[in-house]
Amino acid sequence: MKILVTGGAGFIGSHLIKKLIQQRHEVVAIDNLNAYYSPTLKKDRLNRFLDPKKFSFIKLDICDQAAVDKLFSQQEFQVIIHLAAMPGVRYSMNNPKIYEKINVQGSLNIFQAGVEQKIKKIIYASSSSVYSGNRKFPLAEADHIQEPLSFYGATKRALELMANIYAHNYPIETIGLRYFTVYGPWGRPDLAYYQFVKKIIQGKPIDIHNQGQMSRSFTYIDDAIQGTMAVLQNQFSLGKNHLYNVGSEREVKLLDFIFLIQDLIGKEAHKNFINIQPGEAQRTKADNSKLKKLGWQSQVDLKQGMGEFIKWFRRYYEL
Ligand SMILES: NC(=O)c1ccc[n+]([C@@H]2O[C@H](COP(=O)([O-])OP(=O)(O)OC[C@H]3O[C@@H](n4cnc5c(N)ncnc54)[C@H](O)[C@@H]3O)[C@@H](O)[C@H]2O)c1
Repeated sequence: MKILVTGGAGFIGSHLIKKLIQQRHEVVAIDNLNAYYSPTLKKDRLNRFLDPKKFSFIKLDICDQAAVDKLFSQQEFQVIIHLAAMPGVRYSMNNPKIYEKINVQGSLNIFQAGVEQKIKKIIYASSSSVYSGNRKFPLAEADHIQEPLSFYGATKRALELMANIYAHNYPIETIGLRYFTVYGPWGRPDLAYYQFVKKIIQGKPIDIHNQGQMSRSFTYIDDAIQGTMAVLQNQFSLGKNHLYNVGSEREVKLLDFIFLIQDLIGKEAHKNFINIQPGEAQRTKADNSKLKKLGWQSQVDLKQGMGEFIKWFRRYYEL
């Protein structure tokens, strides 16, 4: 298939492109390489992690309606995998407008162009952050979404609701993937696991939010990609509009996570205990039974996955 991947220079996007190329799909990737975190890391994913000869890359901002329309007038896609977004809970609390602009308006440009080109399937990234106001665990797709606590979560929920409207009014299938804290090599520097590893190696203090009373479903990148591929490869219609949790069912306590990283690095962290930050969920725990029905199974445990990440981190930064 000819597949458009938005956010192709991103963490999940670049790993997904690798898998799609392996499976002989034709990939067109777009990304604006913005500076929310290091554009060098984004370019390195495209040029060092991936083989740039094996896919097309176009530097393009999804908020630029004319550029999106031009792309769709020049190329025909069978599927869109829409990952481009402003990610990150904490940054969204002080910068809500950029989240609305990219995650809502930018996404609408992509969905609208897809509908006009009569594309059959759009798979898009949502987030476990939509559940941040929910109190029943594990978090399941059928649960009523209480109020998300962050602007980031709210824009992802808005995207889900808009995808729903497209699916009900046009001959298009929209599938939202609620990723749960995805980590691994070539990962995102704004996320806590990346900062913990960096600071412990450098001997700098780490901030431990909510005095350590937090827990997460961590998802290794290969498992997240397998989940994305399970949805892509499913030959049967999944229905008009579908949501899938992509996350491990294992809930890991923050302090246990830090002990694991200390063990893997062989160095103790200087711990700075602070309060919970605005927008943060205290707990995530995925119910992944729906994705399992498509044959998906989480394969990589946290120790192995963090070991892979730390190996990559030391190599990449020559530490
Ligand atoms: N990594 C996680 O733990 C996680 C968890 C839940 C949801 N998600 C979602 O999955 C998707 C991918 O996440 P990621 O971790 O790979 O993030 P990422 O930031 O590494 O990737 C997103 C990419 O989108 C690009 N982008 C942003 N704005 C754009 C614009 N206006 N035009 C074109 N490109 C633009 C960025 O430059 C970046 O390369 C995002 O939608 C994110 O919200 C990620």
